[in-house]
Amino acid sequence: MSATVVSGMRPTGRLHLGHYHGVLKNWLRLQEQHESFFFVADLHALTTHYERPEGIRQSTWDLLVEWLAVGLDPEKATLFVQSWVPQHAELALLLGMLTPLSWLERVPTFKDQQEQLRDRDLATFGFLGYPALMSADILLYDAASVPVGADQVAHLEICRELARRFNNLYGRSPADSEAIEAGLRALGKRGKQQYQRLQERFQQDGDGSVIAQARELLDSAASINEATRALLLANLEGKGRTILIEPQPLLTEAAKMPGLDGRKMSKSYGNAIALREEPETVRKKLLTMPTDPARVGRHDPGEPQRCPVWPLHQIYSSEATRTWVQEGCRSASIGCVDCKSALVDKVLAEQEPIRARAEEWAAQPQRLREIAAHGAEKARTRAEQTLIRVREVMGLDAG
Ligand code: TRP
Ligand code: SF4
Repeated sequence: MSATVVSGMRPTGRLHLGHYHGVLKNWLRLQEQHESFFFVADLHALTTHYERPEGIRQSTWDLLVEWLAVGLDPEKATLFVQSWVPQHAELALLLGMLTPLSWLERVPTFKDQQEQLRDRDLATFGFLGYPALMSADILLYDAASVPVGADQVAHLEICRELARRFNNLYGRSPADSEAIEAGLRALGKRGKQQYQRLQERFQQDGDGSVIAQARELLDSAASINEATRALLLANLEGKGRTILIEPQPLLTEAAKMPGLDGRKMSKSYGNAIALREEPETVRKKLLTMPTDPARVGRHDPGEPQRCPVWPLHQIYSSEATRTWVQEGCRSASIGCVDCKSALVDKVLAEQEPIRARAEEWAAQPQRLREIAAHGAEKARTRAEQTLIRVREVMGLDAG
């Protein structure tokens, strides 16, 4: 079993086909190849929905049902609910102690979301701390990679910086720490300030050119010996005992699933088809999609490249059907209704077994509870290992 992956989804409503093609199919592949932890991020949902938590419980179960329906397998991946594993909250609190406010304030989603969700008061500690909670989610499981969309990369970057900062602060022996202190004193006031500036640049921005500058600074200091020089350099790079493992982003490469209007599929754009949408509305939504405006009448030729239906064929249709669409559209030998109907068939065929399995799962609440309880148990056992290390180096294991 190779490296561990962790990912979460917020329970804020039903999934759509964009989630399926963009995220879940990737998770299905990962559960075969990796030790995987997938969780319902209910605490994250509260950061934006704390005033109206009513939907969270239902959405949590809906999400689990949909995950199981698409084929996530509790025998292969650990599926759980974040708040059932209190270690997430504990590590988030502890990481908060060392999370610089400036890191949180510069996350693009922090300001964006505050502006977008104007009807809510998001000037809260919890919302500002979102990236620290997300970091805890990941670091608890020693995850090597985290499958996320491009919108989450800034959060993941904070997670990586926090792991480095944590290891740097707590990852060395008292003797090393003393030697570092002594070395810094030996650099003199200006030298020490220069060193700290370089260290900050390296750790916050991962600026590699800093290392060469630091080496120069240390080489020119006659007052320190070679061993101290090496120690100071390693310290600048944040190298010490690794307590928290820095994860890598695993960018979901799946092409953005186009929505009904050609933009990315998103509930907020109103251009989505739900994963479990009724066949009748699926049909209606697809058949009323806009097409190439050049096809005013049935006998006007069109160009698939200018039509939002075409990218959907690229996801759903076989080579043969795609050729049929391209030739038929350009020669006006097929109509848009023919073209769209072929797509309707494919989408419905994909949804049919998922819908059936979702209904089966939804009818077994007791079984769902067992799966969630079992997943939480496995997650807690694993997460607690990390917290034992963290509590120890943070001085919290006196009892
Ligand atoms: N922030 C993610 C989102 O909004 C959800 C999430 C929470 C997550 N914790 C995570 C994703 C940890 C990956 C890893 O989509
Ligand atoms: Fe679009 Fe298909 Fe109509 Fe061409 S035939 S314009 S690809 S819907």
